[in-house]
Amino acid sequence: MRLAVTDRCNLRCFYCMPEEGINYLPKSKLLTYEEMLRIVGILATMGISKVRITGGEPFVRHNLTDFLYQLKAIDGIQEINLTTNGVLTGQYIKALQDIGIRNINLSLDTLDPQRFFEITRRNEFDKVYKTLFDLLDADFYVKLNAVVMEGKNTDDLIPLAELTKNYPVGVRFIEEMPFNGAGANYPILHWNQRRILATLQEAYPHLQKITDSPSSTSANYQIPGYQGTVGIIAAFSRTFCGTCNRIRMTAQGELKTCLYDEGGLSIRDLVRSGMSDEQLKDVFAQAFRSRAKDGFEAEQRRSNRVTESMTTIGG
Ligand code: 5AD
Ligand code: SF4
Repeated sequence: MRLAVTDRCNLRCFYCMPEEGINYLPKSKLLTYEEMLRIVGILATMGISKVRITGGEPFVRHNLTDFLYQLKAIDGIQEINLTTNGVLTGQYIKALQDIGIRNINLSLDTLDPQRFFEITRRNEFDKVYKTLFDLLDADFYVKLNAVVMEGKNTDDLIPLAELTKNYPVGVRFIEEMPFNGAGANYPILHWNQRRILATLQEAYPHLQKITDSPSSTSANYQIPGYQGTVGIIAAFSRTFCGTCNRIRMTAQGELKTCLYDEGGLSIRDLVRSGMSDEQLKDVFAQAFRSRAKDGFEAEQRRSNRVTESMTTIGG
């Protein structure tokens, strides 16, 4: 399960939000930590064992680490992972180790400070870059998420892949999706998985396909002799839907059984209306049963086309 703990963020990545940001939810509309603990507790009895914390930027929410300790203590929750932009993360490395978090996904689209600024509209490259190496030094399994964008960071593909030479890092190139909060859409996706792969193969003719974990959303490769791996996430082409087993809880407590799902089922409202755990379980079970078979079906079922920002979905 992916749990968004906030819709707020300290960056303004253009593929996620317009420059002025989005209309953030008032605090009363966000799930409280107590509500999240209850919801995860119920889902844990239904078989959820892995929680990925997302946002917005998770560390923008106050007292996140206290919450993570409590989350880890829930019966049945075996693994907590975290996706972060790395701006505030450095100061929490020790706490994350104490909690028992081992896997961190860091969003980093470029190794060039100027391009970082153009993409995120904030001057935070140095902090994020340092955090990457601090996390590796502290023995976290780090994955880097890089959204591949025409005219923005395509020159970064090879430098990012080169990071895998000396570091055991998983660099994942993500197809850009229309979740930019502006409803801006492209008639064609310039950098789809095939073009990303072709670019990597041109630079690394001996690029090797490696086995993907059963519910992986990335197709993974290794450059012979390199320590890390490179992966491609076909988030727009949606070729991985058949093995996807994720559910999402947005910061305002909407359940989504697919990234492209319109949401609308407010678990928050049901919780606040006084539903029992058993009743909530039935609601979840019903939603899982009627899950769209893939992201295209989920998109077709929508009453409106995609206009939301990734920061409200949680990635
Ligand atoms: N398309 C593809 N990936 C996106 N992300 C955010 N917005 C988009 C988008 N429009 C990615 C970020 C982050 C992850 C949670 O989602 O890179 O790493
Ligand atoms: Fe923030 Fe992540 Fe959205 Fe960038 S992609 S603005 S880091 S939530």
